[in-house]
Amino acid sequence: MVFLVCPECDKPLDEALTCNACKVSYPRLGRIPFLYTEPDTALLDWRNRLNMAMANLEEQIRLTQPKQPPDLVSTRKRLQHLQAAYQDHAHELRTILEPLQVGQVRARETYLALKTRLSSHHGISTYSQNILRDWHWGDVENTQVIAHLGDVLKPVIKTSVKRMLVLGCGAGRLAYDLHQHLNCETTWALDTNPLLCLIGDAVTRGEKVAFTEFPIAPLNSELAAISRVLSLPQGREKEPGLKFVCADALRPPFRVSSFDLVVTPWLVDVLDAGVNTLMETVASLLKPGGIWLNHGSMAFQGTDPGQRLTSEEFSELSQQLKFEIVSCGDIELPYLQSPASRNRRVEMTYTQVARWPGPVSQLPRIKPQNFPQWLVADNHPVPLEPGFQQQITTTRIHSFIMSLIDGRRSIKDMAAVMEQQKLMPADQAQIALRQFLTTMYEEAVRFSGNNIDPQ
Ligand SMILES: C[S@@+](CC[C@H](N)C(=O)[O-])C[C@H]1O[C@@H](n2cnc3c(N)ncnc32)[C@H](O)[C@@H]1O
Repeated sequence: MVFLVCPECDKPLDEALTCNACKVSYPRLGRIPFLYTEPDTALLDWRNRLNMAMANLEEQIRLTQPKQPPDLVSTRKRLQHLQAAYQDHAHELRTILEPLQVGQVRARETYLALKTRLSSHHGISTYSQNILRDWHWGDVENTQVIAHLGDVLKPVIKTSVKRMLVLGCGAGRLAYDLHQHLNCETTWALDTNPLLCLIGDAVTRGEKVAFTEFPIAPLNSELAAISRVLSLPQGREKEPGLKFVCADALRPPFRVSSFDLVVTPWLVDVLDAGVNTLMETVASLLKPGGIWLNHGSMAFQGTDPGQRLTSEEFSELSQQLKFEIVSCGDIELPYLQSPASRNRRVEMTYTQVARWPGPVSQLPRIKPQNFPQWLVADNHPVPLEPGFQQQITTTRIHSFIMSLIDGRRSIKDMAAVMEQQKLMPADQAQIALRQFLTTMYEEAVRFSGNNIDPQ
């Protein structure tokens, strides 16, 4: 396993994934190396996310059995169908993620309370639609993407590729298609999400995986949930040259200057770090003269407008970091179009091919910490950061307001208490309280079904 390095110190790992310098042995999920700088914490974090998904499924199952059965026969039938499908899906997730060694599912409240690390865009099931597009819905989308990327790579990839890396590979279809299209010797497919890595690994080795689809807008009631089987497309060969690794794209466990081609598909706008961090990482991984292929959306979500780059800025930044742009341009492509759904996305994607002239020596190897030390160790003081300070204040106000709910006080009574406590004048408090309690009421209804008395 000489090719893989320790994500902490960059020294080579041995066959057992041990770093003799750091004295750390990294785990595997099934066949897949799990190479995070703090592997135990990262494993625990993913286990929690799986448990969160399980708890959400249990909640959905409960909501399919309302105390008062719905009036419509068709709705009753659909809820029964969904109930069975949610149970099946919980079983599927447990089976696929068995290598995570899931513990007992704890109360949903605990996970909701701990949601700071369980951001919805990194949930275990966030990319379920991508999984189904890759390995079930058929070839329409996948064929268009590979045809386009094959065309843009033609002028720069003349012979077969020795080593390719796909960062943020999802369930791996593009990595698999490119690997075969470019006749690669070895391809590493890296993603942070163990569900996606485990599915990609199983399917590209010829296994079949049961995975229920819940279309966003089902075409009819029967299609509200569909039992699917993920598998290689008909007539396509399994691919032992494609290897999956579960790790952070910003701390990839590979030797510097070791890839001929690095691909970042639909990744740049979902990362927590700035784009220049990813660009520097890609540069450090490419051999001198190696190619970087970026493809996908440019829908940056962050709050900092300076970080929400347009395609021109993206290309300018690449050049500033010494990449040579070979080609760049837009193409409209279908995206996540389930045959069972009314919801059909079309995206104007941006594709950029750039060459890294090397050498890499002037680039610092970026070392983002997965978690700060006070979160990793049990005995470090938790710092009172400005962000925490603000959260503490709002949490106190929230809990004070909630403590005023005693089954007797009205909004007017509660506003009077807030005025007595010098928090707000009563007339303003009344408006603020109504808004706050409306949100709380809606959340409580969502959380507990229809258990709150609307009287
Ligand atoms: C929009 S999806 C695209 C997936 C796949 N490339 C595709 O085209 O279907 C973004 C992917 O990036 C992965 N991802 C997000 N942050 C990551 C990180 N820091 N390291 C590795 N993968 C990451 C997600 O798990 C997800 O699979």
